Amino acid sequence: MSSTEETRRSGHAKVSNAAAAAGTRLDPWYNTYADRALGMKQSEVRSLFAVANRPEVISLAGGMPNISGLPLDFLAEMSARLIRERGTKILQYGGGQGEEELREMISEVMRPDGVRGHPDDITVTTGSQQALDLISEIFLNPGDVVLAEAPSYVGALGTFRAYQADVVHVPMDQDGLVPDELEQTIMRLETVGKSVKFLYTIPNFHNPAGVCLSIDRRPQVAAICARHHVLIVEDNPYGLLGFDGDPIPAIQTFNPDGVVYLGSFSKTFAPGYRVGWALSPAAVNARLTLANENALLCPTTFGQLSIAEYLKTYDWYQQVKEYRAMYQERGEAMQKALKKYLPMCSWTKPEGGFYTWVKLPEGLDAHAMLPRAVTNLVAYVSGTAFYADGQGRDHMRLSFCYPTPEQLEEGVRRLSTVITAELELVDMFGIAHRHDVHELEDSGPAEAPSPNTL
Ligand SMILES: Cc1ncc(COP(=O)(O)O)c(C=O)c1O
Repeated sequence: MSSTEETRRSGHAKVSNAAAAAGTRLDPWYNTYADRALGMKQSEVRSLFAVANRPEVISLAGGMPNISGLPLDFLAEMSARLIRERGTKILQYGGGQGEEELREMISEVMRPDGVRGHPDDITVTTGSQQALDLISEIFLNPGDVVLAEAPSYVGALGTFRAYQADVVHVPMDQDGLVPDELEQTIMRLETVGKSVKFLYTIPNFHNPAGVCLSIDRRPQVAAICARHHVLIVEDNPYGLLGFDGDPIPAIQTFNPDGVVYLGSFSKTFAPGYRVGWALSPAAVNARLTLANENALLCPTTFGQLSIAEYLKTYDWYQQVKEYRAMYQERGEAMQKALKKYLPMCSWTKPEGGFYTWVKLPEGLDAHAMLPRAVTNLVAYVSGTAFYADGQGRDHMRLSFCYPTPEQLEEGVRRLSTVITAELELVDMFGIAHRHDVHELEDSGPAEAPSPNTL
């Protein structure tokens, strides 16, 4: 055996022994991973969702947009034409900031939110999920604090966790994030010398809570963050999907220099193109572009130019209106079913977007109940997925975007059977002992988002 081969093998043996010592015989590289990778965990409900995705199960879990209404023939023809006429451009690498042609169109797409963004200040990303990653990369050192609503989007929490940030939740109510609570939280953290890097907020049709930040709170949130020099990351994938018309002004409009505004074509067009964007103050944008180049070289040229062409040649706003009408019908069906079958619960009444946030009766545990729900052929996401600190057992998120109104009614009916059975157990045996914090930390959040938990 050559000496190089010997070194390689003994190196491997060392790692394997160390891995075995750490109780991870299946992964000899366990001790080689960076700390941040050890913080990434697969959701324990993933295997459950493998079952939940079977056709007999009605899934109220996933946040997948219902794209069955897309003009597929138009898109097929458009793609063929693009490849025929501009193939050598759209199948080539592009710039790290994204194609100017698309950035110009994005400036138009943001107008209904009141946002006046210059194409130069936009970086195109691989969905807004990648924008969250880039922002975390350029702002977060391990131990830095990110503020987020309680609850917050599972995919963002997973990203912040991967960068070893501490997420501190700020309470919200029917009108979104509570400004007084925000300021008090910032001040409390300041007094203990914690560095708050940014506030991550979803002001429109919140995922998972379904509510909107009211118009009067928007300038307040902008002013509080400006006062304390806390950047705002405003994540707005659902803003155009209000049931009753045009959106209210973004937080960004109240302090453009203090906000990174994230947009996405995933919910208003199609997620398969994987195109989102960040509009940022110029200096931040320059760093985001560099980070994008490091990560990807460039975002998908094909996806970007396909979307630019769609925006130019199709009545995209009419398509958004069709989505709105479809989601409104489903949202109303969900509300009707909740009223009919779940009088023992309370829930939010979204006026847009995909999600309803349901509070269970005292003593019920959404996390523990999920396997029983799946056995009863209905799935949801436990509230624990949407907190960084193990809260949320008393809530579940129901999405109404994908199932038909009939399936929504039947799904909620099945849930009522499960909840009623759980309540009978509570009646009989009392409220179960809650698990300790370590166990809770192991179970949530569902760090790496999947179509089931988005
Ligand atoms: C609040 C929020 N932000 C970001 C994303 C990521 O979307 P995408 O990466 O498809 O743009 C989602 C997806 O569900 C979301 O709900």
